[in-house]
Amino acid sequence: MISNTLPYYPNSAKINSKNHLEIGDYDLVELVERFGSPLYVLDEQTIRETAREYKKALADFYPNSLPIFATKALCLQAVFAIMAQEGFGLDVVSAGELYTAQSIQFPADQVFLHGNNKSKEELQMACEYRNNEGGAKTIIDNFHEIKLLAEIGKPIDALIRITPGVECHTHDYIKTGHLDSKFGFDLEQLDSAIELIQSAKNINLIGLHSHIGSQIFEITPYQDAARIVLEQYVRIKEKYGIEFTHLNLGGGFGIHYTESDDPPNIREVIKQIATTVKSLLSEFNLKEPTLILEPGRSMVGRAGVTVYSVGSTKQVPEGRLYVAVDGGMADNPRPITYQAKYQACLVNRVLVDEESVCTVAGRYCESGDILLKDINLPSDIKQGDLLAVFSTGAYNYSMSSNYNRVGKPMMVLVSNGEAEIVLRRESMEDLIRNDVLPSRLIDISESAKNQISQKSWKEKVH
Ligand SMILES: Cc1ncc(COP(=O)(O)O)c(C=O)c1O
Repeated sequence: MISNTLPYYPNSAKINSKNHLEIGDYDLVELVERFGSPLYVLDEQTIRETAREYKKALADFYPNSLPIFATKALCLQAVFAIMAQEGFGLDVVSAGELYTAQSIQFPADQVFLHGNNKSKEELQMACEYRNNEGGAKTIIDNFHEIKLLAEIGKPIDALIRITPGVECHTHDYIKTGHLDSKFGFDLEQLDSAIELIQSAKNINLIGLHSHIGSQIFEITPYQDAARIVLEQYVRIKEKYGIEFTHLNLGGGFGIHYTESDDPPNIREVIKQIATTVKSLLSEFNLKEPTLILEPGRSMVGRAGVTVYSVGSTKQVPEGRLYVAVDGGMADNPRPITYQAKYQACLVNRVLVDEESVCTVAGRYCESGDILLKDINLPSDIKQGDLLAVFSTGAYNYSMSSNYNRVGKPMMVLVSNGEAEIVLRRESMEDLIRNDVLPSRLIDISESAKNQISQKSWKEKVH
């Protein structure tokens, strides 16, 4: 049973007079009639309002700042365009994400390239991506990258990623001397990295970066990380005479997937981080750097809802009721990957009198393809019902696959009663687009020839 006030709802979600779920003033039953299912639905209002919450809080507490959207959460041209309009930069981690930014002429100087194993081609792309304001920047992750940049020889602004020894597991966090992480430099390696960068000449070092984890509800770990990073600013200034102009404290701000999640609100997070950074700057007598934050999940997570159609059901004798939908682990790998929990409701009859516990299974050939374990849904749930799963905007499409050769769903952006396709549904042709059938394999086996003539087979493949 849901009401209009649940924290994992997109901002524009409503239950209308037909008892249907609406997002962006669009009835989701009508949306599925028009576009089919499964369907990723993206609420423009939630994305824009969230972006403005970040911008407003930063303007109030730390105006010299740049929020950049971590595109790994949801990489799409339409989303990048909204981010640009809202004054966000981008954190990209691959040639593909960088190319997506380039394809819409995203301002190059606001693009930051991350990655623990960037290829020379990716670094070259970043070096060459420029506008009048400057060029894309890189977050140097390791010694190998410094060598590659030196070989490329083109000027680039860079931050160094360090592991500050603050480790978060959503609710708990620990501080350790050394973090066992594949990302970034340990503090003990930092000076060697700086010296190698200085010898490279073409790399302009502008600051340090730290990212402490994801789906974090506490603010203290960010404050601890800020102290650890800024202590390095003082030390580096004294030792090398370098005064950094930028400080990047990463992303990771948590969201509601279920009612039991308890993320702090964005304004509070920004206020606390900004206040801590400012007081550390005055304690250490440092010039104010531009503060960069890299939110991903919190920018788009709650804006997304996935709508599935219910197909078969199975009642295990004296056991669970399984309700199968037309999507699952390929469009949302988070439950099977890390037992992520979600909330859901029926779109076509939201408020009902009687509910019972069932388990929503995906359509993929893995027993573990379970989207929602033991969730309350209408007791008479049946084939043809439409199920909305909430908070699927981040790390769903971007982590999706074509497992079982099922095409990825379409995504529509809804706003003010309008729906626009921002991602086409993959067709059968899309699925075989990159297959190559060597000509020697076109002659099929004897037994298959009995069922399909050689001639018609060849016609099919050519
Ligand atoms: C370096 C870096 N920045 C930002 C993010 C975004 O994190 P989130 O989506 O939790 O905000 C990640 C995610 O893993 C990351 O690795």
